[in-house]
Amino acid sequence: MNFSVDNPLSRRMAVLAQRVSEMREHDFYFYNQPIQEVLGGSKVIVNGREMGMYASYSYLGLVGHPRINAAAKRAIDRYGTGTHGVRTLAGSLGIHTELEETISEFKHAEAAITYTSGYVTNLTVISTLMSRGDYVLSDKLNHASIVDGCMMSGAEFRRFKHNDMQDLENRLQQIPSDVTKLVIADAVFSMDGDIIDLPNMVALCRKYGAYLMMDEAHSVGVLGKTGRGIEEYYDMWGSVDIKMGTLSKTIPSVGGYVAGKKELIEYLRHGSRAYIFSAALAPGQAAAANEAFKVILDEPWRLEKLNQNTVQFINGLKGMGFDTMLTETAIVPVLCGADERAYALTQTCQRNDVFVLPVVSPAVPEGQSRLRATVLASHETSEIQRAMDVIGAAGKEIGII
Ligand SMILES: Cc1ncc(COP(=O)(O)O)c(C=O)c1O
Repeated sequence: MNFSVDNPLSRRMAVLAQRVSEMREHDFYFYNQPIQEVLGGSKVIVNGREMGMYASYSYLGLVGHPRINAAAKRAIDRYGTGTHGVRTLAGSLGIHTELEETISEFKHAEAAITYTSGYVTNLTVISTLMSRGDYVLSDKLNHASIVDGCMMSGAEFRRFKHNDMQDLENRLQQIPSDVTKLVIADAVFSMDGDIIDLPNMVALCRKYGAYLMMDEAHSVGVLGKTGRGIEEYYDMWGSVDIKMGTLSKTIPSVGGYVAGKKELIEYLRHGSRAYIFSAALAPGQAAAANEAFKVILDEPWRLEKLNQNTVQFINGLKGMGFDTMLTETAIVPVLCGADERAYALTQTCQRNDVFVLPVVSPAVPEGQSRLRATVLASHETSEIQRAMDVIGAAGKEIGII
């Protein structure tokens, strides 16, 4: 079958190909940029040039940490690079159990379960817990994996306005009182960097008898006195029923998890399809993640430095006149407006060795294209200043500030 045959699929492919080729023509094509080398925690080599890394999710700068690398190597020497298959059919490795114990302790939970990615975790967990006749209420800016999990579940899917507790309450009031309800939100929003209003959300969940799930992809290692996330940040331990997170951001590995009560984890272990029908995390990844949770607690200076760097970066950019929206975290949106302005700002920054990437519609609402810049614990104060000087000069040239 040929993709040049005229049908709806080939037409959609042609539209995309045309868009990509136009972006390439203007040197605005930043998709999948090749990183040749990672130098320490804050620099990368891209297109043969050393650049400051301002597009990373490795907020505490743990990628390449010697203790974490060593743990991964030991696990590979002991178990090999792969699992034998699905844990239920091929046996469960010691490192998986160890990692799940580490996570449950870190998250002050009774138990935890791991999956091979954060995306898969949201899909499988939401669709296992929710089903036809149930209701799921999701923040409008929640990650795509949450949206996909909600749709896959077959439950009634309602979105409430971003971080708007009045709107959430209005929607909860419209739902019959005797049905199963789940409220879900990112703890830190991946494109805007703002923090969910957990206290009011918990109060509403209790008032209307809804379960609460938090996606902690961007809050673990970042929020709270010791980096344990959203419940520590608000000093509200025990308020989240389903504590979901990824192992691919602050934790420099890949995978996802849910922590919570024993009966929840037991149910997921026996009922979630991504656990039963998909192979477990590779041993090296599991060991790296396991060690990373320990490093976060053993090296508290990283979180202190991240907090300092975050304040420097946000205040500096705001001071120059940039709109950084409501961020309070290491994810710092630099609002540009139209897509072309975000591309132009990215291009100028990269030409001046500051590695940032644009986020354009439909990933964010039209007219709200931006750099999704991030600051890391491994950045030096002087490096951040230089990056801001570059972003500022480029912003002026393009007319953003
Ligand atoms: C909020 C949120 N949830 C889930 C995911 C998916 O995680 P992973 O990349 O580990 O699959 C992401 C990834 O970007 C995310 O930002």
